Amino acid sequence: MPSHNSTVDSHMHAFSDVASDCDSDHSTCMSLDSFTESTATSRTSVDVSMRSQSPTPSVFSMTSSLRAQAYKQEYGRDLNNYSDVYRLPADEEELDRLDRQYEMFCKVTGKYPPPLPDVLADSGFEVKAVLDLGCGSGSWIMDVARDFPHCSAVAVDLVPMQSIHMPPNCRSEVDDINLGLEHFYGDFNVVHAQLISAGIRDYHSMVDQISHVLRPGGLIDITEFPFYLCGADKQPITFPAGAFEPPWVALWMSYAARAIRGRGADADAALHIHRWISSNPTFEDVVLRDIWLPVAPFLEGNDPDVVFWNEVAVTVRDDVKAFIKSCRPLLLGHGLSQEFIDAMERNVCQELDEAKTPLYAHIINVYARKKQ
Ligand SMILES: C[S@@+](CC[C@H](N)C(=O)[O-])C[C@H]1O[C@@H](n2cnc3c(N)ncnc32)[C@H](O)[C@@H]1O
Repeated sequence: MPSHNSTVDSHMHAFSDVASDCDSDHSTCMSLDSFTESTATSRTSVDVSMRSQSPTPSVFSMTSSLRAQAYKQEYGRDLNNYSDVYRLPADEEELDRLDRQYEMFCKVTGKYPPPLPDVLADSGFEVKAVLDLGCGSGSWIMDVARDFPHCSAVAVDLVPMQSIHMPPNCRSEVDDINLGLEHFYGDFNVVHAQLISAGIRDYHSMVDQISHVLRPGGLIDITEFPFYLCGADKQPITFPAGAFEPPWVALWMSYAARAIRGRGADADAALHIHRWISSNPTFEDVVLRDIWLPVAPFLEGNDPDVVFWNEVAVTVRDDVKAFIKSCRPLLLGHGLSQEFIDAMERNVCQELDEAKTPLYAHIINVYARKKQ
């Protein structure tokens, strides 16, 4: 396996048509069902009293009654009990999936965007602070807290972070980002958000708010997935309404996208974040990284690049299978029948195991500095 430092860029470009010089905001890409009306409500949107008391540091222990309040069971999985928009589980199985996914991202893009160590260097006159919006299992924010022990690290999610390995300079806050980030304005040197669009109603507004959350010179770092898969030509695969045809994993993803939009979340945010950040006058040095993840080890040959990406693809394939399981409550709640979902899942697993169809997940990372 090639080491990260020497290979990230070459790997990122090896399977990429587009790189940081791409000015497109991807807004011309397809949008499935963009007019689906949301049926979801966010409890926190109407009950602000439920918010955490940020910026007061929250210190809590998870009593069983607190735990019972934070989660609810749906279709055999534990989901957050705070927002009706985000409907993926928050249980151990899902946190394990996120941990494995994080390790895969570390191999492909590295842990941090290149400017982060400089931004967090100890300046001697302020305590540097990092915010992770939608931290999931907390792997990233805990790594930041450990790698930069002079910094203060804050993780926000709909459920409390429960790691027993929580570094002392890291704290967990339970909050719904959809309620706004005003209470954080001017407090952070780095704001990171990764793969949270399935729970965000107005992602553009969140980006604008992050520009206020950051201190001058601060770093915004956003990574999202547009909830479609691409073929060998890196173009999105679309389906006519009612289609039941391969590529099955791309078909399945189109149903997941519809269900996410149906809950009122901004499933297409990934296609616009580059434009939103570039057009915000407070940001400069905007960098776009397009990452093309093969979803099964279909690449042929033995050169080190192919071997590297086929190894990544095995992790991505397992991640997609676990993600499909995690999305059952979302799809069932969207009105799809269990039989239909089971049939799609069987076809998806067979297709992924055969690894004959070239399919890519397009991951979009944008980072930028706030002007001094
Ligand atoms: C797919 S996980 C990604 C977690 C982590 N960022 C990562 O990359 O591993 C999405 C996370 O965002 C959180 N999330 C989604 N919508 C949210 C919201 N409105 N407010 C706070 N957290 C949210 C979810 O609870 C979940 O933990």
